[in-house]
Amino acid sequence: MGDFDSRFILQELYLRQLKVRGEPMGFKDAFKTFPIIETKRLILRPLNKDDAPTYLKWFSTKEMREFLGGLAYPKNIEESLRFIDNMNGVYFTKKRTICWGIAFKESNDLIGRFEICRFIRQSMAEVAYSLAQEHWNNGYMTEALRAVVKFGFEIMDLHRIEATAATENEASARVLHKAGFITEGVLRKYNCGDEFRDTYIMSILNEDYFSNVVNSKNT
Ligand SMILES: CC(C)(COP(=O)(O)OP(=O)(O)OC[C@H]1O[C@@H](n2cnc3c(N)ncnc32)[C@H](O)[C@@H]1OP(=O)(O)O)[C@@H](O)C(=O)NCCC(=O)NCCS
Repeated sequence: MGDFDSRFILQELYLRQLKVRGEPMGFKDAFKTFPIIETKRLILRPLNKDDAPTYLKWFSTKEMREFLGGLAYPKNIEESLRFIDNMNGVYFTKKRTICWGIAFKESNDLIGRFEICRFIRQSMAEVAYSLAQEHWNNGYMTEALRAVVKFGFEIMDLHRIEATAATENEASARVLHKAGFITEGVLRKYNCGDEFRDTYIMSILNEDYFSNVVNSKNT
């Protein structure tokens, strides 16, 4: 995990103030302002209404939809707009989900979306993501996932982040594995959108993350 770095932009001043006052950071601090995250090649920023056509277009290919189940992507521009509205509105203000658009840092062109959601006792969370097919296999989602994991443990003070991936979705399982997630088992015929599929349950714990960070600093 030592080969990447990421920055949490808008919150830096706020977080610095907390540090100066000696107050601990935690779950609620992640929602004070929308947390923009910068990585080497990417920026994780809010989705906006102008992104709706791009977001809709990604799901026009069979490969893109294959492991999402019919409920997890928009079918028309209204659904795409509604998704963006909900994510920026009630889901964020009620602290239910942070949904980032993944864009290239240089151009701000949108290439994917990333959610951290399903919080339990402000301590456990799930991640979910998708990337436009033309950009697959360049390491982008691994880069985004590592940055969100860092955010989840270092800023939100979570103790566990989990994810599910259909057992046939080898690319997604590989991304999770590269970011330090461990496979805990297979959920048989588990809910996947409007289908039921055998599904890996994978997780990373706070202690896994911090022991890796410490180890990578020592090597
Ligand atoms: C899953 C997804 C997000 C991966 O994004 P990505 O940016 O291509 O991922 P990365 O490039 O960081 O890593 C992909 C890894 O999977 C591997 N991979 C890709 N297709 C594979 C396959 N069919 N079998 C095995 N490994 C595969 C790649 O080789 C790479 O591993 P490597 O770095 O060891 O070579 C993207 O494919 C996607 O959006 N799919 C559709 C939506 C989806 O499935 N979302 C997840 C739902 S759980």
